[in-house]
Amino acid sequence: MSKLYKPNSELQKNAYINSMDMYRQLWQHADEQPEVYWDKLAKEKINWIKPYSRVLNSSKAPFYSWFEGGKLNIADQCIDRHLAKNSNKNAIIWESESGKTRKITYKKLSVSVNKFANILINDLGVKKGDRVVIYMPIIPEAACAMLACAKIGAIHVVVFGGFSAEVLRERIIDTKAKVVITADGAYRHGKPYMLKPIVDQALNECPADLCNKVLVVKHNKVEIPFISGRDYDYQSLVKSQKSTFKSEPMDSEDISFILHTSGSTGKPKGIQHTTAGYILWAQYTSEIVFDLKEDSVFWCTADIGWITGHTYGVYGPLAAGATIVMYEGVLTYPDAGRCWKIIEKHHVTQLYTAPTAIRLLHKVGPNEPSKYDLSSLKVLGTVGEPINPEAWLWYYNSVGGGRCPIVDTWWQTETGGHMISPLPGATPIKPGSATLPLPGISVEILDVNGTPVSQGSQGLLCITKPWPSMFRSVWHDSDRYIKSYYDVVKSSDKNRHIYFSGDGAYYDENGYIVVTGRTDDVMNISGHRVSSAEVESAIASHLAVAEVAVVSQLDDISGESIVAYVVYHNNYDNLNMLTILNELNQILTTEIGPIIKIKRLIIVPGLPKTRSGKVLRRLLRSIARDEQPTQDLSTIENPTIVKIIQDISQKAS
Ligand code: WT7
Repeated sequence: MSKLYKPNSELQKNAYINSMDMYRQLWQHADEQPEVYWDKLAKEKINWIKPYSRVLNSSKAPFYSWFEGGKLNIADQCIDRHLAKNSNKNAIIWESESGKTRKITYKKLSVSVNKFANILINDLGVKKGDRVVIYMPIIPEAACAMLACAKIGAIHVVVFGGFSAEVLRERIIDTKAKVVITADGAYRHGKPYMLKPIVDQALNECPADLCNKVLVVKHNKVEIPFISGRDYDYQSLVKSQKSTFKSEPMDSEDISFILHTSGSTGKPKGIQHTTAGYILWAQYTSEIVFDLKEDSVFWCTADIGWITGHTYGVYGPLAAGATIVMYEGVLTYPDAGRCWKIIEKHHVTQLYTAPTAIRLLHKVGPNEPSKYDLSSLKVLGTVGEPINPEAWLWYYNSVGGGRCPIVDTWWQTETGGHMISPLPGATPIKPGSATLPLPGISVEILDVNGTPVSQGSQGLLCITKPWPSMFRSVWHDSDRYIKSYYDVVKSSDKNRHIYFSGDGAYYDENGYIVVTGRTDDVMNISGHRVSSAEVESAIASHLAVAEVAVVSQLDDISGESIVAYVVYHNNYDNLNMLTILNELNQILTTEIGPIIKIKRLIIVPGLPKTRSGKVLRRLLRSIARDEQPTQDLSTIENPTIVKIIQDISQKAS
């Protein structure tokens, strides 16, 4: 058995769940009487405007509804209910890349959100249920925009600020958004970058009836063109707004937001989240997994464009009444100590980041943490991809000083909040394992027939009972909800609906869950989910490209990086590799965004395919990773190509 690291005894004293016995009892109770467990939590945690009449309705499973009949408002849960006791406490501490700080108390946040809500309703004509796209940098107004949507009952669709005009347009069209909220631009690496011109570009080719209003927050103050009648200046509008707003009472099951994420086929899916179930689990997991207390200063480094930025960048910690840190820029700007300087300056108590960031910080400044006072830290978190032991140990020892438990949290856009994670006051931890499912979450590792695999064997990571923060469907595509998630692992019992996550996993010798990564054609680049199909369809638009297959190889910093196998059209054989690589990466920047780049381009005479013409990506992945292919090669239409590709790959690496 490998070494387990015990919880810090000081932290354990006041933790919400402070022993393995307590964890096991709670998990057992939730498993045996789920409705009793969830009912108690919902009553305890949520400020209901109207109580619900039923905890769980499974009659249309796997379309579930939770807390039917109840009414609440997420913005009230995150802000207003804290005002009586904590109005002068900081809700947000924001720091710009240049080091400017803004501190926003709960009282100030409530006023800003109310004014924002008034702008949305009065000036932009947004109504309950309308979709509002948010394309913003990490500034307090981004959180205000999200919370203002929650306040009025509009559905927000946050699009990561690093995505291209193409992606932005697709999401505006997919959700038939009425309004876009953006900023002129922001800063990265000390230089201004622009957002509003990308919105203009996206809207240029949008159907005329969509999105005829754009709200612009001026931030980097670089001159931008304003289209009169369409563009609205936030700073001028906000001056004349009332500082009060009566929150819209929302049904438990009303959609709170849509967030797109990649699947193995087709366009990214609009993952639909609800109101009560979502905020309940966002708040409760913030509390138990990070041990958030009222005096906690919680810093989640994720952008609001990802689910982590939604649930733990904004909603969960505010619902729990903590202080959140928002940082606009790059973690290593202007130097390798920036991240640690922010922790020292704002007395951050919990840091939540991705393994890719930890590996980068380790590489650029292995001794930097020791130059700062990090004694405020209590719990460290990671998310997004498996963490390698080397990065884990550096995080634990050099950042956490050996005192701070690491919570390696496994979850997904679809799950709304954490599913598998250590509890910082209870679970003995070890590098590379997310350990055990949280109370209320039924995780099983199964084969495709729904049979549990034995300890040590790889299986499919599944969730076998519903939970309140689960996504309810794919926007406008309920068939895809069933096909992508519930049709893969089938049980002989028709009443058993098994959610398959897309990940593989196994139980290790401690009985802990080790997540090994995606089993489908989804890649995980720096913790970002990207489908091979999306990248391939962009690359295929290049004139020289006849065929392409994209897989990932392992990477020291980004976890995985992209390898593209390209077959040229005839007459394109003499192209310069570097030129073509640059051109393809330019296409990816335009079509998806600058975060997606080909790391290794391999020109091949053909691709391995089945007789029905399906490209064998799994085989290509093994070749790219220099692994012995385990796939059955007998079904290949052109078996000689395998050896040829292997030889070219080896030469190219
Ligand atoms: C995929 C979900 C949910 C927050 C960020 C990403 C991978 C996530 C872990 C972890 C190993 C992890 C999985 C999952 N993943 N957390 N702790 N250990 N892998 O959200 O974009 O929806 O991606 O990220 O492969 O399926 P997402």
